[in-house]
Amino acid sequence: MAGQTRGATIALLGVLLLGAVRPGAEASEIALPHGSGITVLIKPGIPTLPVKPCYIISTKGHLTTLTIKSGEKAVFSFNCRDPEKHFVIEIQKNIDCMSGPCPFGEVQLQPSTSVLPAVNRTFIWDVKAHKSIGLELQFSVPRLRQVGPGASCPDGVTYNISGRIDATVVRIGTFCSNGTVSRIKMQEGVKMALHLPWFHRRNVSGFSIANRSSIKRLCIIESVFEGEGSATLMSANYPDGFPEDELMTWQFVVPPHLRASVSFLHFNVSNCEKKEERVEYYIPGSTTNPEVFKLGDKQPGNMAGNFNLSLQGCDQDAQNPGILRLQFQVLVQHPQNESNKIYVVDLSNEQAMSLTIEPRPVKFSRRFVPGCFVCLESRTCSTNLTLTSGSKHKISFLCDDLSRLWVNAEKTISCMDHRYCPRRPYSLQVPRDILQLPVQLHDFSWKLLVPKDRLSLALVPAQKLQQHTPEKVCNTSYSYLVASTVPGQDLYFGSFCPGGSIQQIQVKQNVSVTLRTFAPSFQQEASRQGLTVSFIPYFKEEGVFTVTPDTKSKVYLRSPNWDRGLPSLTSVSWNISVPSGQVACLTFLKERTGVVCQTGRAFMIIQEQRTKAEEIFSLEDEVLPKPSFHHHSFWVNISNCSPVSGKQLDLFFWVLLTPRTMDLTVIITAIVGGGALLLFALGLIICFVRKKKKKTSKGPSVGIYNGNINTQMPMQPKKFQKGRKDSDSHVYAVIDDTMVYGHLLQDSNVSFLQPQVDTYRPFQGPTGDCPPSPPLTGSRAPTAKLTVDEPSPSFPAESESEPYTFSHPNNGNTDIPLLDTHEPTEPGE
Ligand SMILES: *[C@@H]1O[C@H](CO)[C@@H](O)[C@H](O)[C@H]1NC(C)=O
Ligand SMILES: *[C@@H]1O[C@H](CO)[C@@H](O)[C@H](O)[C@H]1NC(C)=O
Ligand SMILES: *[C@@H]1O[C@H](CO)[C@@H](O)[C@H](O)[C@H]1NC(C)=O
Ligand SMILES: *[C@@H]1O[C@H](CO)[C@@H](O)[C@H](O)[C@H]1NC(C)=O
Ligand SMILES: *[C@@H]1O[C@H](CO)[C@@H](O)[C@H](O)[C@H]1NC(C)=O
Ligand SMILES: *[C@@H]1O[C@H](CO)[C@@H](O)[C@H](O)[C@H]1NC(C)=O
Ligand SMILES: *[C@@H]1O[C@H](CO)[C@@H](O)[C@H](O)[C@H]1NC(C)=O
Ligand SMILES: *[C@@H]1O[C@H](CO)[C@@H](O)[C@H](O)[C@H]1NC(C)=O
Ligand SMILES: *[C@@H]1O[C@H](CO)[C@@H](O)[C@H](O)[C@H]1NC(C)=O
Ligand SMILES: *[C@@H]1O[C@H](CO)[C@@H](O)[C@H](O)[C@H]1NC(C)=O
Ligand SMILES: *[C@@H]1O[C@H](CO)[C@@H](O)[C@H](O)[C@H]1NC(C)=O
Ligand SMILES: *[C@@H]1O[C@H](CO)[C@@H](O)[C@H](O)[C@H]1NC(C)=O
Repeated sequence: MAGQTRGATIALLGVLLLGAVRPGAEASEIALPHGSGITVLIKPGIPTLPVKPCYIISTKGHLTTLTIKSGEKAVFSFNCRDPEKHFVIEIQKNIDCMSGPCPFGEVQLQPSTSVLPAVNRTFIWDVKAHKSIGLELQFSVPRLRQVGPGASCPDGVTYNISGRIDATVVRIGTFCSNGTVSRIKMQEGVKMALHLPWFHRRNVSGFSIANRSSIKRLCIIESVFEGEGSATLMSANYPDGFPEDELMTWQFVVPPHLRASVSFLHFNVSNCEKKEERVEYYIPGSTTNPEVFKLGDKQPGNMAGNFNLSLQGCDQDAQNPGILRLQFQVLVQHPQNESNKIYVVDLSNEQAMSLTIEPRPVKFSRRFVPGCFVCLESRTCSTNLTLTSGSKHKISFLCDDLSRLWVNAEKTISCMDHRYCPRRPYSLQVPRDILQLPVQLHDFSWKLLVPKDRLSLALVPAQKLQQHTPEKVCNTSYSYLVASTVPGQDLYFGSFCPGGSIQQIQVKQNVSVTLRTFAPSFQQEASRQGLTVSFIPYFKEEGVFTVTPDTKSKVYLRSPNWDRGLPSLTSVSWNISVPSGQVACLTFLKERTGVVCQTGRAFMIIQEQRTKAEEIFSLEDEVLPKPSFHHHSFWVNISNCSPVSGKQLDLFFWVLLTPRTMDLTVIITAIVGGGALLLFALGLIICFVRKKKKKTSKGPSVGIYNGNINTQMPMQPKKFQKGRKDSDSHVYAVIDDTMVYGHLLQDSNVSFLQPQVDTYRPFQGPTGDCPPSPPLTGSRAPTAKLTVDEPSPSFPAESESEPYTFSHPNNGNTDIPLLDTHEPTEPGE
């Protein structure tokens, strides 16, 4: 695209010049002196337009090519008005330094462009010299800029430079005017082609040739920087392979007040039989010159003064030589004020941790962007630096704007043998050295790994956390992102920021906890961050959230993965504390969860922790309960089925705590009192009404499923399809929980052989409160009603003798609580 546009611009420019300069098809006269070594060839160019044929008219008649040799003279014209579209002219001058003295000095365009017809002109100088003679091409300002092969130059003026190794031509490169390349030294001859488009009025070659002593290598390319800038350079023959076992050097002249950095843009290495491919630097001030690097190494940066860089090839494997090539950039810029400051990142006491300082992703922009480097020991600089634990690193920055970089870190904390796990909680704290870097921390990710089915994890924040929800967004400078890292399990628990009501998050299995920062003010707030992780006995839900709300502030809670739906067959609980003297109003924000089950059942249990009274709701068909009052701590537990795609389970609710003394009259007074409390009071009224209703529906205190509907558990969805009006008559049960959950206590003690972890009391005492679990078991359930559940046909009955079963379906899902029975029974209908 760019090339086309440029071509069009050139053509347009040409048309304009043409109008001014060329009155018509004029006759040209070219006379070449004897012994000049010049041959002029006029030949058809690449036809750009299929137009009328055009001929060269000379004394020899109508021709399509015309050759004029040394000592000859020709007068010719074209029989069309636009010969530039048909013909090109090639002027080759052979300079033989082997047989006689070499004409060194300023190179003339000969014959002068003023006598040449206005067609594209290529001047070629072919200089042959002894191997022992160095030839130096010197370019006057504005010097040359190397471009990739096939690239065109903005003004159409292109230099092609090639050399020779014995009989083989080696391409040194294609160059445009206007760059940094000031000199090119070669030996054994050089072939220089200068392409001037037909409209270009340039009348000088722009370079001179001098003889030098042998350079003992393929070539030396010198670049001169006058100020800040960059140069992209390529190995000979690029993108083809660098000649075998050759040496090429680039010299850089950099003003003393500036700093240079090298970065390799593209490279390949060949298969070496002898020697090693490498680059060598002479860096001013270095005591270890030449500094040798592999091509894959980070290259030096922040260099003050002139330096040079050599590429050394090797003896390649004849069978499979591979390809050595290199394209690199040298960037010269002012020393950054940060560049002299050394930061120590001491990770010597850390384990299994890595830290990467890398560029933030940015939108592509065409403007010149100064480099931004991180330097190790102020010497090897790169755009992306990874530091690993176990050592102390000294880094500095060479960057105009440090906000272009960020830090990402990862640390793995694992306990692979449950008998030897740390007893004490482990603190997830960003190391101080990272916080003091002048670059913003983006993510610090802790990968917490526990043995499968052996241990679980409890995360306890220094400050209670708020779940980030659209209704109540986190506005703090950082959040913790908690996500499962179990392969194949796509489960994101959510984003949590300080300043909420979540006191603890317990997760069943391997998770990553990522501290993500959102604002530079994190650096100040960082001291308050802190989260501890404890290894706790294994439990079977995906997650348990311990919520201790503060009075009068609404706590919004959302089921994990809420934008994509809770994963199939998983279960999650919220342990919601209600201090004495307080009452909690639990409100579901949507009428329905939207889940449609393919297999299994989705349901919710709300259980009062003190009385163990439970309410069970099918999440599939029923509307969610209306706001309800809770005087004591309670559980909300949801268990998902295997939903139909697109009909996912997403539960969203809020909890509001108020002093219990606030009875209806107070509320009414408040309403009468008006204003601020109105909304809040309305919520309470709803709660109050709901509470009254609920009381009336409370069944017998020993687990009997309520009423006429309940010859079935929520297994039979049809039974629960009810209109909005009678939605109150949901399944309701009070179950003797020690019967139902007692086995769980045993189970967890068995699976956790060492009772040293005392942070998770609930699983230890015989009467500890556990999240309510689905009344899954047939045999242990206190009511006969529960046993009529059919097992889902796709899930075979478990064979293990454990009374409380979580089936492991054959279809690859793991560890999912499912409705299951030991003795398959007849369908209830
Ligand atoms: C002359 O050169 C220009 C670019 O330098 C090119 O676009 C054009 O095709 C050339 N003309 C011919 C006849 O080769
Ligand atoms: C310059 O070199 C390239 C690549 O070898 C070639 O395609 C192009 O024709 C050359 N141009 C001139 C003017 O010699
Ligand atoms: C030469 O390069 C400079 C800076 O890159 C640019 O401003 C200028 O327009 C260029 N001149 C030509 C003739 O390309
Ligand atoms: C090139 O052209 C400039 C004017 O455009 C003129 O001053 C100069 O003498 C010319 N040089 C040659 C070598 O013809
Ligand atoms: C350059 O060439 C001249 C004559 O051709 C010779 O006298 C001189 O020694 C050469 N210089 C070098 C550096 O080879
Ligand atoms: C060159 O290296 C790149 C990676 O740097 C690699 O993807 C590519 O395959 C290599 N090409 C050859 C021809 O070896
Ligand atoms: C590279 O630089 C060093 C030190 O300035 C110098 O001794 C050496 O000759 C240079 N090599 C080349 C090939 O320019
Ligand atoms: C570097 O310069 C920027 C602006 O020029 C300034 O804000 C910053 O504080 C400086 N940093 C140091 C370490 O001097
Ligand atoms: C920086 O390096 C790391 C590790 O090699 C890599 O994962 C990351 O993608 C790199 N970042 C950038 C911006 O290239
Ligand atoms: C958690 O990670 C550990 C270590 O990689 C692995 O042994 C274990 O099986 C993982 N747990 C799960 C449930 O994948
Ligand atoms: C964040 O939100 C809370 C209320 O949710 C408000 O009190 C606080 O001022 C906010 N902080 C910022 C920095 O906006
Ligand atoms: C439920 O939360 C309360 C209050 O934070 C706590 O004391 C209790 O141990 C929790 N129960 C479980 C099983 O986590």
